[in-house]
Amino acid sequence: METKGAPTEDLSSGGFLSKFLSDLVDSPVNLALLGVCGYLLYRVLKGRRPDDAPYVPDESLPPLPKRDMTVEEIRPYDGKQPDGRILMAVNGKVFDVTRGKKFYGPDGPYGIFAGRDASRGLATFALSEEVLKDGYDDLSDLSPMEMDSVREWETQFMMKYDCIGKLIKPEPEEKPEDGEKEKVSSVTEKAVGDEVHSETTPEETSEGDVKKPSSE
Ligand code: HEM
Repeated sequence: METKGAPTEDLSSGGFLSKFLSDLVDSPVNLALLGVCGYLLYRVLKGRRPDDAPYVPDESLPPLPKRDMTVEEIRPYDGKQPDGRILMAVNGKVFDVTRGKKFYGPDGPYGIFAGRDASRGLATFALSEEVLKDGYDDLSDLSPMEMDSVREWETQFMMKYDCIGKLIKPEPEEKPEDGEKEKVSSVTEKAVGDEVHSETTPEETSEGDVKKPSSE
């Protein structure tokens, strides 16, 4: 009996595989993606060999005391220091990922995340420097799907690595009020003016005001 409707494709495993392979080879974008995946897979698997990690810190690194940190504070922990410690932030938490050095060490496939907030890179599946922000990243522009992905990564990291604490937003530098600035600069100018005509050096206070030394 003849069946009506659109002609059916041969989706047996042989037909599917050959269509898949021809689609892959026909498109340069697919080929490039395949290349990237192959390269990352190679790097991940290569990193598994125990003799392939000369920078390896030893497993006896003492655990870091728990504390909240800013991005600037986690920066130095990029695995390139003598102890090889690697910290990385994911969704507002700081993890000690030193035991994943084959991934995040200087020669690892995900070394770009070492000492950084990796959330945006993980959310967007990107491993490029341009994607990651240098300062604090509030991730507010990520889509709900990307945020779900970051949360999944966070769960995975919670299971695998030590959480050191929270990633904190640095306090904004305190700027003096406009009036105060004028006051300070006029005092400074006066003192500098005085200094020109005086043999003694003005002494600076911690508030940034300039105080003339007492005449005693
Ligand atoms: C398409 C190419 C990719 C391939 C073939 C690939 C392959 C792998 C494999 C096999 C693992 C597991 C290794 C293991 O558990 O021993 C892994 C883990 C991982 N991949 Fe990829 N990956 C790819 C792309 C990416 C991208 C683009 C990112 C980030 C934006 C990424 C981030 C990660 C992370 C964070 C881990 C977990 C490492 C850990 O356990 O700490 N991967 N990848």
